[in-house]
Amino acid sequence: MSAMDYSQIAHWYDTYVKTDIDIPFFINEAKDCDHVLELTSGTGRLSIPLIEAGISLTCIDNSPEMLAILHQKLAAKGLSANVYELDMQNMALKEKFDLIIIPFNSFSEILSIDEQRQALKGIGNCLTETGRFICTLHNPEIRLKSVNGQLILRGKYFLPDDNGSLLLWSVEQYDPQDSLVKGTQFWEVYDQNRIMQRKSFLDVQFYLHQQEEFIELVQTQGFNIVSLYGDYSYAEFQRETSPFMIWVLSKS
Ligand SMILES: C[S@@+](CC[C@H](N)C(=O)[O-])C[C@H]1O[C@@H](n2cnc3c(N)ncnc32)[C@H](O)[C@@H]1O
Repeated sequence: MSAMDYSQIAHWYDTYVKTDIDIPFFINEAKDCDHVLELTSGTGRLSIPLIEAGISLTCIDNSPEMLAILHQKLAAKGLSANVYELDMQNMALKEKFDLIIIPFNSFSEILSIDEQRQALKGIGNCLTETGRFICTLHNPEIRLKSVNGQLILRGKYFLPDDNGSLLLWSVEQYDPQDSLVKGTQFWEVYDQNRIMQRKSFLDVQFYLHQQEEFIELVQTQGFNIVSLYGDYSYAEFQRETSPFMIWVLSKS
């Protein structure tokens, strides 16, 4: 089962995901690398700035709809990258990379530990012996504070070309049995007169790793912990306050 059906919302992705807090961090991490592999690149929110910064990038994502938007952006800007439509759980690439990244907490979209092990095996296989793997995750302590079974307005966004507004609502619950946050998103489109044009829903789920659990997972799959940051300014991870767990790993 997949975490979320991106084919339903790919055309809205760049309207509702505007964050850029991680871009300077990843440019800094990638700047001295020969070949960088970005897993779950999506529409290229991060890929485009990395390529514009002169980084030799390979992008992988399993959503053709998200990758179609990435291809459009690359063509519009006259940029190039290797782009593969692949599942990160079953990658068999010939190339080796000195940096592999999974931005935006997307490793959590692999919903079981067995499948995560399989993905880590593939990642290890295409990492050079001295390469690094950066895996970004939610800090469960903080993320769970907004998982409360209540319907929450996540955001209101203006659609491009003055085409009205998009409202995103969601309700989420945590299931400790399988460590999954399970939720439903409600997408509402309004015209310029604020009359609703359509409403749709989408089921979503993602895995919430505890710090110790992730350490055991990666160590048993042949990785060492190099660093753990709590945000994209390289702050030390604090369990009670850090928004993220940004893991820098190497092969053991
Ligand atoms: C939240 S989006 C992040 C996109 C982009 N990295 C960003 O930061 O904006 C998650 C992306 O992961 C992709 N994805 C989810 N599971 C995947 C898998 N098993 N293999 C490859 N891509 C996957 C989705 O198609 C989607 O494009």
